[in-house]
Amino acid sequence: MTALPSVSVVGLGKLGACIAACFADKGFEVVGSDVSSHTVELVNQGRPPVTEPGLPEMLARSRGRLRATQDAGEAVHATDATFIVVPTPSNDEGGFSISYVIDAARSIGRALRDKKGYHLVVLTSTVLPGSTEYGMVPVLEQESGKRCGEDFGVCYSPEFIALGQVIRDFLNPEFLLIGEFDARSGEKLSAIYKSVCDNDPSVARMSLVNAELTKISVNAYVTMRISFANMVAALSEQLPGGDVDTVTGALGFDTRIGSRYLKGAVAYGGPCFPRDNQALAYLARQLGQKASLAEAVHAFNESTNQRLAERVLELVPEGGSVAVLGLSYKPDSNVIEEAAGFLLVRSLVEAGARVTVHDPMAMDAVRQVLGDSIAYASGVADAVQGKDVVVIANPDRAYAGLDLASIPRSTVVVDAWRMLRKQAAAAAAPNYIGLGLGEDNQRLARALAGMWTDPAGARS
Ligand SMILES: NC(=O)c1ccc[n+]([C@@H]2O[C@H](COP(=O)([O-])OP(=O)(O)OC[C@H]3O[C@@H](n4cnc5c(N)ncnc54)[C@H](O)[C@@H]3O)[C@@H](O)[C@H]2O)c1
Repeated sequence: MTALPSVSVVGLGKLGACIAACFADKGFEVVGSDVSSHTVELVNQGRPPVTEPGLPEMLARSRGRLRATQDAGEAVHATDATFIVVPTPSNDEGGFSISYVIDAARSIGRALRDKKGYHLVVLTSTVLPGSTEYGMVPVLEQESGKRCGEDFGVCYSPEFIALGQVIRDFLNPEFLLIGEFDARSGEKLSAIYKSVCDNDPSVARMSLVNAELTKISVNAYVTMRISFANMVAALSEQLPGGDVDTVTGALGFDTRIGSRYLKGAVAYGGPCFPRDNQALAYLARQLGQKASLAEAVHAFNESTNQRLAERVLELVPEGGSVAVLGLSYKPDSNVIEEAAGFLLVRSLVEAGARVTVHDPMAMDAVRQVLGDSIAYASGVADAVQGKDVVVIANPDRAYAGLDLASIPRSTVVVDAWRMLRKQAAAAAAPNYIGLGLGEDNQRLARALAGMWTDPAGARS
């Protein structure tokens, strides 16, 4: 058996720390590097620098195979391949800044100058087309005095992971996306992934620029599906007996469509979907092409957040109280960036409602932004108690177990994910509103009948 190459990971944040731990767990010798001394210290103590399920156990298991340093050059010297996983913040127009990537490339390039043998540099951070070849490669060549494709190789290989399941997603990818400067670079990276993945994914190898476009296209496409399902949910709600689950369930049977990300619930959020969609629109504008498709998805998503806030506010009496359950953008995460539950809380507070919140992991993150303007519940039961309205904003298992019978009928339960719909139907709970479900009432029926009554036509 050939020995595994050693790898370095530059940037030990939400994604990089997990990647480093996964490699070490699979037997690779790993050197992590981060500009933060605190992060480096934690990793060297075998403690997680970020919150992510499974990471503490993996770091504890990997001691001896994973160490960290603030010196990226040292990490490069000690290893055969380097993954760059630094932030690429969005700018006001929707593009990504690559300033951190360039900083990292400078350090890596300087280290390559006196490093013997071939080295592979893999950019994992999300970037716009052209960034790797025309932004990063020239810096590596200039700082190292060496030639890409001869002395070192370069790949662009982003990850499709969701926070809360980064380790599972990294080890079991849907497919591997490898943008390669040349075939040698791509082959080296394929071999590395083959040694680390638990599954046997398809590998899409292509040029750097095609891989960069693929990454943002995948996420932008998913945002379009989520928005489509949210539109169907909004329509279902206005039809007598309308039921988004029935409709999307049938849509999913069509193999041209498929069922994933076709739920119909809240707006998409988090650190990737909104900004990758915006980046695709930005790219289209930069290239002189129509950006209207991605822009419409973005605008529709914002309207979905507003619609939820309006729907909830309609139900809250003057000076009334609301509990929002689920603040992070998805279960098992403490990230509230663009998260529907968090944005709802902010809108409700702005509208003057008294808001109590609950989330299994994201309370501290919300407290840092909203401070004393809201109340923080000690548990789900505490959050729900005595409220006029309770909103379930993310599908966390903590809320699936909510017992509607224990909630007084004076409290309206708004269930954006319809997790409790069977329970509500069995109990015929009048205080339950499953979003995306049209009431079976006469108001909706009359409105629908009115649309098809044509008095002029009836006379002729
Ligand atoms: N978090 C996600 O869900 C996710 C998913 C897919 C892709 N990505 C992409 O991965 C990249 C990283 O995202 P993240 O969420 O891990 O970011 P993060 O902010 O959690 O972590 C980035 C880390 O890089 C470190 N860093 C910054 N500059 C550095 C440098 N020059 N040298 C060494 N370390 C440096 C920071 O100190 C930090 O620890 C971004 O481009 C992001 O778009 C993130």
